[in-house]
Amino acid sequence: MNSPRNSFTAPIPSLKGGLPLFGHALEFWRDPVSLIQHGRDRHGDVFAFQLFGRTMNVFTGIGGATAVLKSPDTVLSARDAYRFTVPIFGRGIAYDAPPELMDQQLSMIHPALRDERMQRYGEFIAAEVADHVEIWGDSGEVDLLETMNEITIRSAGRCLIGANFGTSLASRFAALYHDLQGGINMVAFFAPGFPTLANRRRDRARRELVELMAPLIAQRRASGRRCDDFLDTLITSRSADGMDLNDDTITGLLLTLLFAGQHTSAVLATWTGLLLLQSPRHLAPVLAEQTEVLASEGMTLAALKQLIRLERCIKEAERMHPPLTILIRKVLKDFEFGAHRVPAGEYVIVSPAVSHRNPEIFADPCRYDPDRFAVPREEDRRTPNALIGFGGGKHRCIGLAFAYQQIKVIWSVLLQRYSFELVDKVQGPDYTTFDVGPRQPCRVRYSCRVSSRQTASAALVS
Ligand code: HEM
Repeated sequence: MNSPRNSFTAPIPSLKGGLPLFGHALEFWRDPVSLIQHGRDRHGDVFAFQLFGRTMNVFTGIGGATAVLKSPDTVLSARDAYRFTVPIFGRGIAYDAPPELMDQQLSMIHPALRDERMQRYGEFIAAEVADHVEIWGDSGEVDLLETMNEITIRSAGRCLIGANFGTSLASRFAALYHDLQGGINMVAFFAPGFPTLANRRRDRARRELVELMAPLIAQRRASGRRCDDFLDTLITSRSADGMDLNDDTITGLLLTLLFAGQHTSAVLATWTGLLLLQSPRHLAPVLAEQTEVLASEGMTLAALKQLIRLERCIKEAERMHPPLTILIRKVLKDFEFGAHRVPAGEYVIVSPAVSHRNPEIFADPCRYDPDRFAVPREEDRRTPNALIGFGGGKHRCIGLAFAYQQIKVIWSVLLQRYSFELVDKVQGPDYTTFDVGPRQPCRVRYSCRVSSRQTASAALVS
């Protein structure tokens, strides 16, 4: 049911159409970005639509998106919007924790994101990519999204859980992770506890993952050995009352990071490559930069930071195809923006995918143009919250630097070793998954630039 809207305020226009009970669920499920773009074209910056009896208020303008992202948790709650994550991350963890506790939990992760650790992750990721392409031979074809998924699962495993991941855990972990991913769907969004087959599999996988991790955590605690991974950081963290974190919390926080960062990174790495390979004009300077920067320095953190052309291409992929196309909040206290008021109980949405195509922010927004981020244009800096592929405000992504570094490392190893060309025409986004990647197939043909005996890791990692 629509909540009555306050007569003092300008009513928020509602999108017509939709089915009884379902509202606009079918269009939303097929292509949420077109639905929101259509609403914006028809009604302007702010409008509402119905989803299974809930009113979703969309803020697509510059000021509206900023107001939503900056709003405190007591007014607009991410926690109440992302209940579907609770059976995956666990009870009392991340979005199931009160906001102050979630802040504490995320701050425990910060030491794992310091520069000296980032340098090590860069090395691990370069080694994983080199390992992955070991069986490629001198030429062939691969699907880019599958490739990026495989590389980022192994890289995430290595950086989160450590060297053991590659040797003993990988295949069991991957199967359980797959069942957990099955628990992210529209039914789970509104009724996370509903006993569908996918949700039962999800719950079993969560229990088994804790069992799988328990001996590893016990071994680490017993040995007292320090390691360069997120698990080490969590094992050595203390809660606010000075206690060790228990196994369930450690596993839950690792799952939070894995879910937040793995598929999103795979998708952004894929878009980065597809868009770049489509544009030889931009690929050539990226290759030149590889030679200039990495040939002399190796793949150090400092060198990776100098890959600014590649970085602009990642940014442009983030702008054109943000992996998270919508960000949602539940309204806990009436939310006011300009003349509009959204009553408590409804939802608000900000869409990076739609905001990033706003011509008031980005010139000729449908054109692939990484140079829009270069001095003097810097289109992302002229407006607050112009680029929101990693969110903004209080809930801005903590893994942005990690994700950018990971994608830089992956593409640096690949581009130094192979030349690529597209096999398939690049297709549009595939909205069947929560993190939106390109529709498959998205195959590329590769051929080796260097002798197959000279490994990329040896050439690149200092
Ligand atoms: C391309 C890769 C990534 C993308 C596009 C991405 C995107 C986002 C976005 C849009 C948000 C805000 C969600 C909201 O406001 O509703 C977010 C939050 C978050 N991300 Fe990422 N992310 C990526 C990688 C990572 C990585 C690698 C990690 C961990 C190492 C990570 C950890 C988190 C966490 C913990 C949050 C919640 C922050 C909070 O609510 O305070 N993300 N991410």
